[in-house]
Amino acid sequence: MEAKLKKLLSQAKEEVKEIKDSQILADLKNKYLGRKGDLAVLLKDIKNVATEERPVIGQIANEVKKELTHIFNKLEHSINQDGASDLDFDPTMPGVKREIGHLHPNTRVQAEIEKAFAQMGFVVFDGPELESEYYNFTALNIPEDHPARDTQDTFWLEDNNVLRTHTSNLQVRMLEKYGAPFRGIFPGRAFRNESTDASHDHTFYQLEGLLVDKNINIGHLIAVMKSLLSTVFQAEVTVRLRPGFFPFVEPGFEMDIKCLVCEGLGCPVCKQSGWVELMPCGLVHPKVLENGGVNSQEYSGFAFGLGLTRLVMMKYKINDIRLLQSGDLRFLRQF
Ligand code: DAH
Repeated sequence: MEAKLKKLLSQAKEEVKEIKDSQILADLKNKYLGRKGDLAVLLKDIKNVATEERPVIGQIANEVKKELTHIFNKLEHSINQDGASDLDFDPTMPGVKREIGHLHPNTRVQAEIEKAFAQMGFVVFDGPELESEYYNFTALNIPEDHPARDTQDTFWLEDNNVLRTHTSNLQVRMLEKYGAPFRGIFPGRAFRNESTDASHDHTFYQLEGLLVDKNINIGHLIAVMKSLLSTVFQAEVTVRLRPGFFPFVEPGFEMDIKCLVCEGLGCPVCKQSGWVELMPCGLVHPKVLENGGVNSQEYSGFAFGLGLTRLVMMKYKINDIRLLQSGDLRFLRQF
């Protein structure tokens, strides 16, 4: 019996050698190890073995079974793997182009503007979005109860802190810290408590600029702005200046650009006027300079508050501001 078992094992080993097909292998496994297979049939004879020899034969039979099972399983595994990789890998197939992310249009425009300003010697600064009432309003010559505060209703927090309504909050902070002369831009998020529509959102991006030096006048401001806009739009854009009131500049202006979404014909973005308010600006109010510790007799400067989100909308002809923060991939994939 022992000899028969060993023969069965060596025969199986021999037969298995050439097999490459999983079906043939399965049949062979069944032939040897199946319920009515060769091994099972052979073991039926164990009743004819002398009682004292049975444990030894039983153990040998077990070992043979274990080894056969191992051989078959191993081969099964390697055939399946080869088969799978044969199917998956075809070296003649063109490469798979994986979808990868890209910069948000807002980030892209911000980077372009930062680069343009850096070339004009401006340094890029970051600052707090959660701001004290002082830096957001009071330091900018917007006293309590001034109507200018009403147009910038925001989210009030404890201890008279606010979500900043504009990036102008950094003007006095920066002057306090670095003094004059100063040349910086402050891009970032601003917040307003207002109902949303195609051109208003509670969260949006601005890019503030501040330049303080000796003998700065409006000519410097206009030259810097024109240079910037032509970089961003890669073309001459039509602009107009209107007088505008902001307590922290004197004189103050509104710089408008001809709506690039409708090319001046009128659309929801430009409120049918053909023009979009892009950038309020002006010469820094002496009180703001003084609040920042800068001598207003010696120094003057200009400031502007670029509507970064608006600019992005103009550049990419986006007709609803809410799309920008929606996180909607159908929208984002278009850029
Ligand atoms: N901070 C103002 C706003 O968000 C915009 C502004 C106006 C900024 C005039 C300026 C400026 O720097 O000079 O409404």
